[in-house]
Amino acid sequence: MTTAPNLMSESKRLAAQKALDYLEDDMIVGVGTGSTVAYFIDALAAWKHRIRGAVSSSEQSSARLKANGIEVLDLNVSGPLLLYVDGADECDPHKRLIKGGGGALTREKIIAQASERFVCIIDASKQVPILGNFPLPVEVIPMARSLVARAILAATGGQPVWREGVVTDNGNWILDIHNLRIVDPVKLETELNQIPGVVSVGLFARRPADIVIVGGEPVRVL
Ligand code: 5RP
Repeated sequence: MTTAPNLMSESKRLAAQKALDYLEDDMIVGVGTGSTVAYFIDALAAWKHRIRGAVSSSEQSSARLKANGIEVLDLNVSGPLLLYVDGADECDPHKRLIKGGGGALTREKIIAQASERFVCIIDASKQVPILGNFPLPVEVIPMARSLVARAILAATGGQPVWREGVVTDNGNWILDIHNLRIVDPVKLETELNQIPGVVSVGLFARRPADIVIVGGEPVRVL
């Protein structure tokens, strides 16, 4: 689906606003990364005296949270979270996702795993019947880049492309796998996780979203 840029921004903002419905007093909120989440962080500012703080998935989101007066907490200190709010690059009908377009997939995956409820906020352009049109991000240890790329090519037939010049918050590199049609996302996620040098895979199928909010008029909650 193609959507005009300003309509898309408004859809993202509406989805982010709706995610406020899932907040509870005294919560520590897990916060993802990206342009949709940026709207959520700005909206969260109205709640800053009612929540204990946020666990952030990136330096980018941490900076925005702090600029909004929201305390950023360490996941090791917070312990398990009740709520994680994040965007996605693609979302299938089973709420399985491709994430990592912004390069924050590893910390996003950690926080999603630590959270009881994962609320995913998207605009309608992210909804797909089958994942894989968006290149699948894989975070890799730098010395393993070509080893992992060869293994991905052999295992999937997809084309791994190095996101050259990008260094993740964890000091690693990213390969984006093009030309995939992911009919069994749980299987692919499991297989790719086994390749030595892979830090994490931007497939969120083993731990999908629990709730998906699709911004628009009207906002839809799936
Ligand atoms: C970052 C992500 C983002 O959630 C994803 O890229 C969507 O971003 P946006 O809200 O800007 O469309 O996974 O690593």
